[in-house]
Amino acid sequence: MNTKAKITLLAAALLLLAALPAVSQEDVLTIGGESYGFVVYQRAPVTFAHSTHMDLEMVDGACTPCHHSGKDEMGKFVEGDTVPCKDCHVEEGDEAMPSMLTAYHGLCQNCHLEAAKGPVTCGECHIQKDFFGIPFASGE
Ligand code: HEC
Ligand code: HEC
Ligand code: HEC
Ligand code: HEC
Repeated sequence: MNTKAKITLLAAALLLLAALPAVSQEDVLTIGGESYGFVVYQRAPVTFAHSTHMDLEMVDGACTPCHHSGKDEMGKFVEGDTVPCKDCHVEEGDEAMPSMLTAYHGLCQNCHLEAAKGPVTCGECHIQKDFFGIPFASGE
């Protein structure tokens, strides 16, 4: 690569970096910890991007695959408001109301398994970061 090409590439990378924060504020949620209802938590928070998911064929721009108020007789989610999961799901669940952990893992992992796409191992979702915010190598 010649110097000019390198500089062009660097400029492009910098532009991309400058554009990132705007996107992350709107679409990307960092799910985890007390504000999401887990008083005692062990795992690193999980990054979730609405944008990547809304464009999926299986989501097709709808909110119901994730935001619901319960299930119908067929076991399908009934449309609901976009309120926090913790408004309904509690830390200790029972038969009528799955626990928060079952809710999150059920929603995220089931769909990734069904789609055979998206993260399924612990470390791919709960990404540990060092003091500089740099992810460690993912794994269990
Ligand atoms: C598809 C993404 C995904 C995968 C894969 C995943 N989790 Fe989670 N997990 C979540 C989300 C989202 C939450 C709720 C937000 C939070 O507390 O991190 C959660 C919550 C938790 C919690 C409760 C909160 C806490 O931090 O203590 C535990 C424990 C947990 N996960 C352990 C695991 C383990 C162990 C594995 C691997 C066997 C795993 N997770 C795999 C997404 C995932
Ligand atoms: C693939 C799953 C998925 C889809 C589809 C989805 N969302 Fe969400 N959304 C989530 C999750 C997970 C949260 C975090 C909620 C929580 O942890 O309490 C969330 C949170 C939100 C929040 C709260 C934001 C915040 O800052 O906490 C709003 C508002 C929202 N979604 C709106 C929508 C709307 C409107 C649609 C449809 C156009 C939609 N979502 C589609 C998964 C989804
Ligand atoms: C308005 C209340 C309400 C909200 C908010 C809500 N849920 Fe639910 N959820 C329910 C009810 C009720 C059921 C059905 C329980 C049953 O009939 O088995 C359910 C079932 C589920 C199930 C199926 C579990 C199973 O084992 O069949 C998953 C997964 C789930 N919710 C995840 C979530 C996630 C993730 C969020 C946040 C994005 C969320 N829920 C928000 C009320 C709610
Ligand atoms: C309706 C199905 C569905 C649900 C529900 C769902 N995902 Fe996904 N997710 C996917 C698919 C499919 C991909 C792969 C997209 C691709 O690679 O084209 C994906 C990709 C991802 C990725 C990697 C791409 C990116 O956005 O950075 C992460 C992280 C992720 N999902 C987290 C989650 C979490 C956390 C939840 C639960 C709160 C969740 N997903 C719920 C279908 C789903």
